[in-house]
Amino acid sequence: MAAESRRDGGRSTVLGDAQLGELGDVLRGVIAASVAKTGRAVLDIVDVGGGTGGLAVPLATLGHNVTVVDPSPDALAAAQRRAAEVSAPLTAVQGEAASVDSVAGMAAADLVICHNVLEYVDSPGDAMAAIARVLRPSGTVSVLASNTVAAVLHRALAGRFAEARRMLLEGESTAGVPRRFTLPELTALIEGSGLRAGEAHGLRVFVGLLPGALVDGDPGAAAGLQALERAAATYPALRDIAAQLHVLGHR
Ligand SMILES: C[S@@+](CC[C@H](N)C(=O)[O-])C[C@H]1O[C@@H](n2cnc3c(N)ncnc32)[C@H](O)[C@@H]1O
Repeated sequence: MAAESRRDGGRSTVLGDAQLGELGDVLRGVIAASVAKTGRAVLDIVDVGGGTGGLAVPLATLGHNVTVVDPSPDALAAAQRRAAEVSAPLTAVQGEAASVDSVAGMAAADLVICHNVLEYVDSPGDAMAAIARVLRPSGTVSVLASNTVAAVLHRALAGRFAEARRMLLEGESTAGVPRRFTLPELTALIEGSGLRAGEAHGLRVFVGLLPGALVDGDPGAAAGLQALERAAATYPALRDIAAQLHVLGHR
């Protein structure tokens, strides 16, 4: 698989996992565009806060040079075990997002992944600034984060009105950890680091709102929901209430 993927410049279906859905489609597009732009089939990819390698290892099996930077030694060890199981070379380095640009041996990156991490860092602005410094000219960052609007909606639907109102009024700056973000807040973070905010997608618009019984044990309904999620991901009014927001930033 790895050799075959190296030859096809990242167009393989390794990222075609149904769970990744729209996110897999977007990342495949980013990788293909970067391969075309740079003329290099092998990209330098940094997964900041990459944890146990759930995305980094599939990217490494595509033949790219992937580095996971994470403060957790346990997560890094798990990522390395996962990579070894599929014989994919993976570099795992202990470090923080806010100092990713000074991690020993860190090369400039064509693509930085920052998924489900800004919720936990001390300063999202510092983290994004360091990520921007790691990106090569024409490099891209893929940011995925929890959406404040979805959290408010979920609490309101559960009858937790005071909590929902507090979350809505306090916003990103005072909500504590894990933090959540609105799309304008994520866009401002990306642009505040000197990058240009690109495409935005919403992931899991309906999944968290629906009773599981609607799709459990019904493959047709599950496939229908998945198709609906893909259609809703870029439909602004629906994207903006998704559980997670995915935004690209370009150098
Ligand atoms: C929810 S997990 C996300 C893991 C992976 N990115 C994913 O999407 O599955 C959050 C990760 O962020 C890491 N993390 C926490 N604080 C961090 C920081 N200051 N800088 C970088 N990573 C951090 C944690 O160790 C953990 O691996």
